[in-house]
Amino acid sequence: MDSMDRPVTWSAPGKVIICGEHFVVYGVTAIAAALDKRAYCTVSPRDDSVIRISSKQVGAAEWRDGELVKESSKGVGNRLNAYHKMVSAILASHDRRKGVNVVIDSQIPRALGLGSSASIAVATAGALLDLLNVSFEPDDLAQHALIAESEVHYRPSGIDPAVTTLGGIIRFKRGVKPVRLEPPAPLELLVIETGKTKRTSEMVRKVAQFRELHIGIFDKLMELVDVVSQEVELAILNNRLERLGSLLTVNHNVLRIIGVSTPELDDVVDASISSGAYGAKLTGGGGGGTVIAVASSQNLKRIYEVLQRSYSVRRVRLPQEGVRRESSPVIV
Ligand code: MEV
Repeated sequence: MDSMDRPVTWSAPGKVIICGEHFVVYGVTAIAAALDKRAYCTVSPRDDSVIRISSKQVGAAEWRDGELVKESSKGVGNRLNAYHKMVSAILASHDRRKGVNVVIDSQIPRALGLGSSASIAVATAGALLDLLNVSFEPDDLAQHALIAESEVHYRPSGIDPAVTTLGGIIRFKRGVKPVRLEPPAPLELLVIETGKTKRTSEMVRKVAQFRELHIGIFDKLMELVDVVSQEVELAILNNRLERLGSLLTVNHNVLRIIGVSTPELDDVVDASISSGAYGAKLTGGGGGGTVIAVASSQNLKRIYEVLQRSYSVRRVRLPQEGVRRESSPVIV
């Protein structure tokens, strides 16, 4: 059996944006971190030219020569098409005419700002390049994943594929090689899901409209968020949690100004702070989704218990691992 006959499985983590979302699309520095929940993807070869993608969470679809030929229920092909585009671009760029089976199982909830689409794309790209016996750098995976991200998002900055590939906590700026930040001690975040989903592309479009209406204000807010990101980096590197929390709240208020928060997100931020967190903010695209909060290690447990009565909350220790090869396949 040559190595091309064996299914290959890779996984990649979800993410949170610690600061700088939306503004990062326009060139501001942002900071993001990989999460503990992961997407798994197994790729195996086929003898025909069909690309079959099946997801435990969404369903299955098949394409032949770029045409959707089968789907397990209406709309599934559309939802999985971004990954099909990426897979077919990778196969074409390596002159491979035969198809593959792609099996996805993701622990990352969709449309909550936690990077579900990027982690699926990065894990799929890793598994496929590995199956094809191609050597690659982490940046190649992030670049391939951008093909899928461009289908799902509107003007993606590339931060989601970058952090899900590298893992840990990263500083990201468009067009610049991302840098891993190494905190002196593990950093624990509260990740609080509102349960309300929203497509990131819709929110990025909304911000583009705000920017068109208020370009002067937007430019000033970009300068402000750049300062927030510089200070967040220092707070992480020096383990200054109180300062970090307060910077998160500043960033949340800027995100409110540009219209991506909601009453629910503001309520979660307020509830986190009033139960003792140093600060909190929405994370990712907004319009629903998730809040992150920072608290002292002594208070974390108590705040977690209070918030848990009303929300789905997790304590996540950073840093977490980026993309990796797995030993067992995904079964769907
Ligand atoms: C999404 O995780 C972050 C946004 O800034 C979009 C992007 O950077 O591609 C909202």
